[in-house]
Amino acid sequence: MTRVAVLSGDGIGQEVIPVAWDIIGSLHPEFDSFEVEVGYARWKKSGVACTDDDITALKEADAILFGAITTPPDPCYRSVILGIRQRLDLYANLRPVKGNGFDIMIVRENSEGLYSGIEWQEKDRACTVRVVSVEGSRRIARAAIRLAEERGCHLTIGNKANVIKSDVLFRDICCHEAAEAGVSFEACYIDSLALDLLLHPASYGVIVTTNIFGDILSDVAGYLVGGLGMLPSANIGDRYALFEPVHGSAPDIAGQGIANPVAAIRSGAMLLEYLGHKDDAIRIEAAIQTVIKRGIKTPDLGGMATTQSFGEAVKAELGI
Ligand code: NAI
Ligand code: MG
Repeated sequence: MTRVAVLSGDGIGQEVIPVAWDIIGSLHPEFDSFEVEVGYARWKKSGVACTDDDITALKEADAILFGAITTPPDPCYRSVILGIRQRLDLYANLRPVKGNGFDIMIVRENSEGLYSGIEWQEKDRACTVRVVSVEGSRRIARAAIRLAEERGCHLTIGNKANVIKSDVLFRDICCHEAAEAGVSFEACYIDSLALDLLLHPASYGVIVTTNIFGDILSDVAGYLVGGLGMLPSANIGDRYALFEPVHGSAPDIAGQGIANPVAAIRSGAMLLEYLGHKDDAIRIEAAIQTVIKRGIKTPDLGGMATTQSFGEAVKAELGI
């Protein structure tokens, strides 16, 4: 029995995930799903955002579908998704960006870097430790190389080794692994890469980079495909996998029923592909494209569809 944990989270997570799950669950009624309430809303009610029992439950799932959570600037509150990524050791964050004439996979190191959680406040300064380990760099390099091999494409290693010494280690390990594997590769500075990605998206295949650079680069790449509402992602470790839109809880539009559910539906398609149902992932993507071509779009894409009506149109297209 395939077990899927569904975590809507906060804000528009609660709007886009039910729509995405409706599609996945209709295609696979045999899936056994269970919901786990995590996030800021729960923290406000009960003082906890995510418990040890929740993590245990997540470990029992074959895959996790996650929406978004609000992370308030409260110093006592630690990001739920960061905690889940760390406790499930979901070290590879895969963020596909696909459009007319380009098919890019951003591979973000997801377990260390500037998101190490090693930080403290002093009287007149605040410090965050940027951790780049040999093993952490090697495993993300290998994950990216496997993807470049599968896709038969070039590997770009995004870094800032000219200034940040921890990136010398990251860059050198990635270059070494890529050379060993015989994959064509190039190391690029992340700042100029961010611009070049927008100017020449077709020249990129797989891009591997450290945690915060990957976070920023994938939001930037949203420009190529119509914004954050379009971008899905996978968080993969050796044992567990979690799928979530790249976007956050979008408090500015939450509660209006107008959030674009494409990122969430595509995340669901990535979940299906991970569980061995690649054919369904392809069908879902084709349905999304057809619906958008027909002019059914949410306001972020210039249309008037609601989250719900977009989801219904995709379901109708799939005949479910
Ligand atoms: P955001 O991604 O929530 O929103 C940025 C902008 O994009 C907003 O104008 C929003 O309306 C728009 N947008 C995002 N997704 C959309 C969609 N599906 N359809 C239409 N428009 C969409 O990022 P922001 O505003 O920086 O963060 C809001 C909250 O989300 C914060 O508390 C932040 O910590 C949290 N966050 C959570 C993430 C996660 O759960 N993985 C990731 C990023 C932010
Ligand atoms: Mg982000």
